[in-house]
Amino acid sequence: MLTLLLILAMSSQGQSLVDSGLDFITAFPENVAYFYPFFPKNSLNITALYDNTEVNIYFKGILEHTVILQQGQTEVYLPPSDVEEHKLDVSQKTIQVVSNNYVVVLSISKQEDSVQTNVVYPYTNLGTFYSIPQLNYSEMLSKFPQATGSIKARYSFFRLLIINAQNFTNYIEIVRISQQIEQFQLQPYTLLQLALDGSEVSVESLYNMAVIVSHPCLEATSCKCNMMLNQLRPDAHWGQSFILPLLNIPTWLHITVNTILTGNTLDAGTLEPIQSGTQSISTIYPASLRLISPGLILEVIPETMFAACYLVHFSVAYGNVLVIAETLSRSEVYIDRSFLSSNSWTAIANTKYSIVSVLLHGRHVIWHPTSKIAVYMFRNMTGGIQYGGPAVVLGEKPDPDGCSLHPPEITVAPTPMSWPESHQYCTSTSDELISPSTVIARSALTEFLRNAANTEHWIGLRRSLLTLDWYWQKGNESEDLMDTQWGAGEPSDPVQGMCASVFSDLTWKSVRCCTELKAICYKKPDYFPVLEL
Ligand SMILES: *[C@@H]1O[C@H](CO)[C@@H](O)[C@H](O)[C@H]1NC(C)=O
Ligand SMILES: *[C@@H]1O[C@H](CO)[C@@H](O)[C@H](O)[C@H]1NC(C)=O
Ligand SMILES: *[C@@H]1O[C@H](CO)[C@@H](O)[C@H](O)[C@H]1NC(C)=O
Ligand SMILES: *[C@@H]1O[C@H](CO)[C@@H](O)[C@H](O)[C@H]1NC(C)=O
Ligand SMILES: *[C@@H]1O[C@H](CO)[C@@H](O)[C@H](O)[C@H]1NC(C)=O
Repeated sequence: MLTLLLILAMSSQGQSLVDSGLDFITAFPENVAYFYPFFPKNSLNITALYDNTEVNIYFKGILEHTVILQQGQTEVYLPPSDVEEHKLDVSQKTIQVVSNNYVVVLSISKQEDSVQTNVVYPYTNLGTFYSIPQLNYSEMLSKFPQATGSIKARYSFFRLLIINAQNFTNYIEIVRISQQIEQFQLQPYTLLQLALDGSEVSVESLYNMAVIVSHPCLEATSCKCNMMLNQLRPDAHWGQSFILPLLNIPTWLHITVNTILTGNTLDAGTLEPIQSGTQSISTIYPASLRLISPGLILEVIPETMFAACYLVHFSVAYGNVLVIAETLSRSEVYIDRSFLSSNSWTAIANTKYSIVSVLLHGRHVIWHPTSKIAVYMFRNMTGGIQYGGPAVVLGEKPDPDGCSLHPPEITVAPTPMSWPESHQYCTSTSDELISPSTVIARSALTEFLRNAANTEHWIGLRRSLLTLDWYWQKGNESEDLMDTQWGAGEPSDPVQGMCASVFSDLTWKSVRCCTELKAICYKKPDYFPVLEL
């Protein structure tokens, strides 16, 4: 077992993160799959989450392309042909994607039949401390008899690509097992590529950086190879519990930790064959896990990073989507607007999860209305080599109404006001005065009132001046009242109150509309459009 003397950096551990953002930086490492020169086709698929999103794309710091996208629309950006970084050196070959509203970015590195897709993390999900998976190329090859080992010296190691994501000079330190430290300075938005020999332990910087491990031609079977690319998660986004997405191919497990693992039979930094039945792994300290097989290195999604809604993309051919969901609610996983109905769900021993693989092509939204799931996407090259990785996370929290891009937001008016003023205030600063008439709004209100003992606030409920019937006023729209939650003796007669308030025990009371109370304003979640299957 390796003894790693390192600092823990786990500030935001334990919360899932969406892959959407306003600011992205990445690079295209060399792809020499197939050992002979096809022209590479590298691209970025940029998908907008909102209408009228302006996206600017920079290469080497220079604006190359601008486009306005509507919600759900994908722009395929083809960078200049010299985008691939072959040299082990400092370079300016980075691509930045900057937008005025949220987008997600998938990078695609294609060389004939060899394709590698990778979710580009937004700036907000980058970090300043990354433990490096100690991948030793010769050790890896020795585990797979089908790999011939006939690689050229130039391809006999993995590569580490460090990109300065800030508009400041960044100071970078690489620590090795021997505790030897190398220091580098990186200009704004430039990158540094290094050979990895398995002795690197961590990379630390002053400002956020993106860190990518790659291999131009990872040996697979029958003299074929596949380009491999894995954008590392900063240690702060690691987990302690993992459900392995087992594939139908021999796979080994590689584990990276930033402190000593105790009481675990897995040695950090070495490859262990996966025993049949091992599908759930927990570690005492945060770790990152990779599944390795000829042509494939897949980073496992930690359980704490499971999310409610994912986007999967496949180019022309069919691909496999692997879904891990709680067994009790696995029948509620949606593919777009339909349930994922499958007879192949398998419960994973000693866990609350089940797993299934489905064949899909095109683009789909996979989501769950009540619990968090994990979704991976895979494709086969001709010859059976699989590639793929985690799908794009669009939404973190489950929402019964769809793929919610952000959870509902509640704000409270700063001062007490009459009901009409409160309605006006909420409509202009948010969406509406809250109407707990939907599951999602009701749970947001319950959550809010849990921390608001003995209070009374306005809600969007009032009587019609004509019929005296109660109705919901949601922004400019009104809606009939279906279920009610009046307190004892409520509602009183119209003279006593034409508007309604809510108490911290969730009951309603009729109140005169000119009474001054604080309003609870509600901003509805936004949903990603889901299509018919
Ligand atoms: C990598 O693995 C090879 C073969 O297993 C071994 O000889 C070599 O020492 C390893 N390199 C490092 C840096 O551990
Ligand atoms: C980076 O900083 C330079 C110098 O301060 C400035 O001219 C440039 O516009 C900045 N670039 C971006 C993308 O903010
Ligand atoms: C990228 O987007 C284009 C246009 O939507 C689509 O045809 C293609 O299949 C996508 N590529 C991948 C790998 O998802
Ligand atoms: C890819 O190959 C695996 C194993 O051979 C198989 O289970 C899977 O269905 C194949 N996927 C596609 C999309 O053909
Ligand atoms: C609501 O109505 C007001 C006044 O008629 C109008 O100015 C505003 O744009 C409307 N808001 C929405 C969201 O329709």
